[in-house]
Amino acid sequence: MASVETVRARLGAVGQGHVLRFWDELDAAARGTLLEQISRLDLEGLPGLIGHYVQGKAEPGERGEVAPAPYYGLDGTCCGRAWDRRAAATRGEAMIRAGKVAAFVVAGGQGSRLGFEGPKGCFPAGAVTGKPLFQIFADNLLGARDRYGVHVPWYIMTSPLNHGATEEFFRAHAFFGLEPGSVRFFMQGVMPSLEMRSGRLLLAGKGEVATNPDGHGGCVRALHESGALTEMKRRGVEQVSYFQVDNPHVRVLDPVFLGLHAGAADSSGEMSSKMVERAGPDEKVGVFCRVGGKLGVVEYSDMPVSLAGARREDGRLAYNAGSIAIHVMSVEFLGRLATDPAFSLEFHRAEKKVPFVDVESGRQVAPEKNNAVKLERFVFDALGLCRESIVVETDRVEEFAPIKNATGVDSVESSKALQTERAARWLRAAGVDVPTRPDGTADCVLEISARTATCADELRGASLPRKLERGERVAL
Ligand code: UTP
Repeated sequence: MASVETVRARLGAVGQGHVLRFWDELDAAARGTLLEQISRLDLEGLPGLIGHYVQGKAEPGERGEVAPAPYYGLDGTCCGRAWDRRAAATRGEAMIRAGKVAAFVVAGGQGSRLGFEGPKGCFPAGAVTGKPLFQIFADNLLGARDRYGVHVPWYIMTSPLNHGATEEFFRAHAFFGLEPGSVRFFMQGVMPSLEMRSGRLLLAGKGEVATNPDGHGGCVRALHESGALTEMKRRGVEQVSYFQVDNPHVRVLDPVFLGLHAGAADSSGEMSSKMVERAGPDEKVGVFCRVGGKLGVVEYSDMPVSLAGARREDGRLAYNAGSIAIHVMSVEFLGRLATDPAFSLEFHRAEKKVPFVDVESGRQVAPEKNNAVKLERFVFDALGLCRESIVVETDRVEEFAPIKNATGVDSVESSKALQTERAARWLRAAGVDVPTRPDGTADCVLEISARTATCADELRGASLPRKLERGERVAL
């Protein structure tokens, strides 16, 4: 490791000498930890970032004219032409069976809105069983093992905030029945939090720089630097099924989506996405658009009001393709994003409250107002770097039940209601008598494990009750 003199000189050269302000108060272990942390930061890159994102307040630039994104619709058409769902499913299933697909969850976020102690993936999410999110995803992979006869490898991106706790959780639960060798954890990087006016690095403690995980887009670099991409190639994996840790309804391996991604004439097989029809002009999801002729996601906060609420003649939203953060990305494309500077993802800035140690007084401060700029990369920015990228529609209830907040919209409560609604739908389709309230919702609490079924069709052969009672709690 570099000496403190070298580090002091490097910090001084970029106007960040205050980081060692409390050096004399630190014991040997704390000094070592601080030097190691600093050695992992790109100090020489800081002045450029500060000039751009703190002083310049730059957001990723305007990229040209915005138009609605075309998509493969649930109605079986795309741009007015029919597409073949069955052919896509056959192709996707063959990819899974041949071991060409890996599952990949990004689980390195801070989960601050949910306010749960511990990694978000450990959150008890199952409507009946209270199963943790990680187990719900593991059930998908166990189901794939049963259905397709393959151990699909699962890559889990953590961050320094939750890496140890995540690994420990899997060990404590015997990997939920998965082969430990098929589960690989790796950590994403961090970015220093920058003081909002000066761009100075904030200190989280006297011997620690305040940092935040570098966004889900940080997965590109982390997949590369951890060796995960190399390992995937060695295993023969060609495509990565990407999802977020907070959606228990995700279909971790969807043959139709995989098949379209790899086989559709207008897909370059680099990166594809799923969408649901936006619930309304104010729904807080990113919107798939064509921007300057390229597919991209416009964040809800950046969507001009006139476009967000624009309607077509049939009354539906003109910009109706809401992103649910489910993608397939090729290993080859991820490698290019990670290693070719022309393909690197931009940063986005967000203003946040970050607690810090005051360098003058040495006191810990909990700011009441935003005091810091946090820099993150977003994975969907990679869409603009594809040759051709497609969007595939899915049904909201079938595949989107996010747990973002402790209460209200996108909370555990709304997610559990959706789990029941989806299960009721599948059970009714299989001929089960499900009790119904006057408003049409199921009058019971239901949960179907992805090991049992990941769609209504897969439930048909299962042994099912003929009738459910009012108020019953049933996990299948
Ligand atoms: P969110 O944008 O919902 O952020 O992440 P979050 O950190 O989980 O929650 P809040 O905003 O603090 O409440 C969407 C997905 O991206 C992952 C999250 O773990 C989640 O699966 N993510 C986000 C990362 O893996 N790394 C990050 O740096 C940020």
